[in-house]
Amino acid sequence: MKTIYLITFILIIFTNIVYSNWIPRKETDENTNICDRLDEYINSPYSNEEFLNYSDVKVCYESTPYNKTKAIQVIETVKEYLKGFYALLDQAKEEQNPGFASRPIDLISELDLVLKNNYSYEFQFIYDVVDLIKELRDGHTRLESDNYHKYNFQHGLSMYSAIRKDGTQQIKVFNDIKDPRNIDCQVIDIDDKPAIDVITEFAKNHTNLSRDLSARFNSALATLAFGVREFYIAGQLFTSRTQLPKNPSISYTLNCDGKISKITREWQVPIKYVPYESPYINGTTVGNATLIFDAFIARFYVLQDFGVVLISTEAILNDDDSDIENFEYRLLSNIAVGFKLFADKGIEKIVFDLSNNPGGQVIVAHYINKLLFPDIQNFPLSFKVNNISIPLIKETSKLKKEIGNIFHYKSFISVKTNSPFDSVIDFIGNNTYIRGGEQVNYTSKAFFNDTALYYGVLKLPIPPKLPWTEKDIIILTNGLCQSSCAIFTQRLAEINVPTIAVGGFPNTRFSFAQYAVGQAMDSSNINDILNQLKNLDSSLVSKLSLPSNLTLYFTIAEAYSIKNPNEVMDYAFRPADYQLYYDERSARDPSHLWMQAAKYFKK
Ligand SMILES: *[C@@H]1O[C@H](CO)[C@@H](O)[C@H](O)[C@H]1NC(C)=O
Ligand SMILES: *[C@@H]1O[C@H](CO)[C@@H](O)[C@H](O)[C@H]1NC(C)=O
Ligand SMILES: *[C@@H]1O[C@H](CO)[C@@H](O)[C@H](O)[C@H]1NC(C)=O
Ligand SMILES: *[C@@H]1O[C@H](CO)[C@@H](O)[C@H](O)[C@H]1NC(C)=O
Ligand SMILES: *[C@@H]1O[C@H](CO)[C@@H](O)[C@H](O)[C@H]1NC(C)=O
Ligand SMILES: *[C@@H]1O[C@H](CO)[C@@H](O)[C@H](O)[C@H]1NC(C)=O
Ligand SMILES: *[C@@H]1O[C@H](CO)[C@@H](O)[C@H](O)[C@H]1NC(C)=O
Ligand SMILES: *[C@@H]1O[C@H](CO)[C@@H](O)[C@H](O)[C@H]1NC(C)=O
Ligand SMILES: *[C@@H]1O[C@H](CO)[C@@H](O)[C@H](O)[C@H]1NC(C)=O
Ligand SMILES: *[C@@H]1O[C@H](CO)[C@@H](O)[C@H](O)[C@H]1NC(C)=O
Ligand SMILES: *[C@@H]1O[C@H](CO)[C@@H](O)[C@H](O)[C@H]1NC(C)=O
Ligand SMILES: *[C@@H]1O[C@H](CO)[C@@H](O)[C@H](O)[C@H]1NC(C)=O
Repeated sequence: MKTIYLITFILIIFTNIVYSNWIPRKETDENTNICDRLDEYINSPYSNEEFLNYSDVKVCYESTPYNKTKAIQVIETVKEYLKGFYALLDQAKEEQNPGFASRPIDLISELDLVLKNNYSYEFQFIYDVVDLIKELRDGHTRLESDNYHKYNFQHGLSMYSAIRKDGTQQIKVFNDIKDPRNIDCQVIDIDDKPAIDVITEFAKNHTNLSRDLSARFNSALATLAFGVREFYIAGQLFTSRTQLPKNPSISYTLNCDGKISKITREWQVPIKYVPYESPYINGTTVGNATLIFDAFIARFYVLQDFGVVLISTEAILNDDDSDIENFEYRLLSNIAVGFKLFADKGIEKIVFDLSNNPGGQVIVAHYINKLLFPDIQNFPLSFKVNNISIPLIKETSKLKKEIGNIFHYKSFISVKTNSPFDSVIDFIGNNTYIRGGEQVNYTSKAFFNDTALYYGVLKLPIPPKLPWTEKDIIILTNGLCQSSCAIFTQRLAEINVPTIAVGGFPNTRFSFAQYAVGQAMDSSNINDILNQLKNLDSSLVSKLSLPSNLTLYFTIAEAYSIKNPNEVMDYAFRPADYQLYYDERSARDPSHLWMQAAKYFKK
């Protein structure tokens, strides 16, 4: 007994010393700025706090009052960016395809309306602007604040949706860090309302990852994703929030094997672990599938007699940026090796699982498309032409070293001539379309010149000859396959490769991918470009200067279907050919879905 007391005693002294070294608590806490104190907790590796409390973060946020003068500047600058560069601004005003759950939105007018509200605090204004932009349901287009999106509010629990044998849908606990006994209990109510309704409403109003509600519903819940080298839990936007939740806590009514209980959880900001990174399953063995080749950003498995490929298109950058072309070359040639291995093993059918692929490198999508189908072109694209974008295009195009920059005409290949543009005027073109009732001008349709985009240094690995046709491939996603992932999957779907979307609502076919756009950008990229260009009108530069702690991300180029050349891919509703569902097993082991997907190979 004595020893135990002694050890406890020493530990207390020890932790106190360490603690006081790292948290210089002032005698009167209220004199320390609360926001600074939260930063200290986060930055002190020996702090024994595991969470920031909701109320502390709220007090911090409420320490900055609303300033209408600043608000007007933010709105005016955001509007300039959108008018100048946001490729989909005018089409957003049109009636949407009924397959989508998004309304027509005249963003410029609605941004002006935000200024009519009275706010007490700056964060309330910022959140309203963020939420309004979020209503575009365009994952590439969003406003982010360093200050007010800094924290991740959680409460230990995450959920998934399972379809039972009788076809009914249930929300269940996927994981609960605070009380693992709750795992797989059914969630009946959330804050005393039916769980499915609450999650659906949240997906409708508060998520931005797809125009399609089913895909957004999946993003609100926990699903597995193949990321940088390992599986991790993605999505769970309902239980992992970057905006301060409206209420300090949330309650769940659970049914655990017939026993009904109600739990209440405070929203907290975990500071001791990074939940998004936590690997859930070891991808070396996925059910009965055998990993036969690990291509770093892709994995090649064999399951029974078919192959399964997982691809991550995330931007994985080399530590040494100067070696980028060799690095890319190795990534791509590894992928080619994986496919060649499949061919050599006599694999006749392949399932591509691209669930939760958030996009990243366009080159990966372009390369795999060409590898599998050497004769297909990628989606062409164009940029908005107006008196904000023209000076950037013209000035950038004067600089030879900027070939590769998306404002340089030599980074592209003309769709009309299938060769480089003769001049910047040729690239800017004279193309007026009617969008949302307005005349809008766009650059001439173009393909990326992938070599030029890597400043002329990227050599693409010579593709091996591969045996498969569109009948031998199936694309499987949970509806969340974005950006470059969509450039890959939506292009293959246009040549009749079958697609499957997993999850969503019973008997509701939904989108397998979204945002097959040409290019996304953000305000800091534009500022870097503005800083390099010498001959710009200074009024243009000041019109485009946002406070440094706000970043506006936006779709800068729209992509066009090859099948229907005037259709903008972003607004094309493309439901998957088939639908599968998660259940207790497949939510945690994707090999169950791979087995079900294999049934849909074309005969
Ligand atoms: C959060 O609140 C709990 C309980 O009131 C307290 O023990 C903890 O120290 C607080 N954490 C921080 C970081 O202030
Ligand atoms: C509001 O912001 C403007 C511009 O930054 C500044 O000049 C002004 O002093 C601020 N007003 C208040 C009340 O802080
Ligand atoms: C905002 O405040 C002003 C003046 O304080 C008032 O005239 C106006 O009606 C308020 N607007 C709203 C929407 O509450
Ligand atoms: C919108 O989607 C992106 C992913 O494309 C995500 O990173 C971001 O947090 C979302 N933004 C908002 C405001 O929900
Ligand atoms: C940006 O930073 C300034 C200075 O730190 C701060 O006053 C302001 O509240 C921040 N605004 C946003 C929107 O993050
Ligand atoms: C969702 O949006 C609708 C329409 O704007 C609104 O009536 C409803 O209260 C919102 N629900 C939530 C949970 O925010
Ligand atoms: C996965 O499992 C294999 C075989 O058990 C093991 O060799 C490997 O180290 C594990 N990988 C990780 C990341 O845990
Ligand atoms: C693996 O195969 C065995 C034998 O066919 C089967 O019983 C088992 O359910 C399979 N496991 C999975 C995870 O599919
Ligand atoms: C589009 O281009 C035409 C022809 O160059 C021009 O007359 C028109 O003003 C432009 N429209 C806009 C909105 O810039
Ligand atoms: C830019 O064009 C818009 C309309 O297309 C016009 O209202 C505005 O005055 C122009 N700005 C400049 C600086 O030319
Ligand atoms: C642009 O196209 C319109 C209609 O196609 C034509 O009338 C006009 O002359 C063209 N403008 C230029 C500058 O080429
Ligand atoms: C693509 O760009 C590279 C490098 O700038 C250039 O050498 C090549 O000719 C271009 N390709 C085409 C098809 O225009």
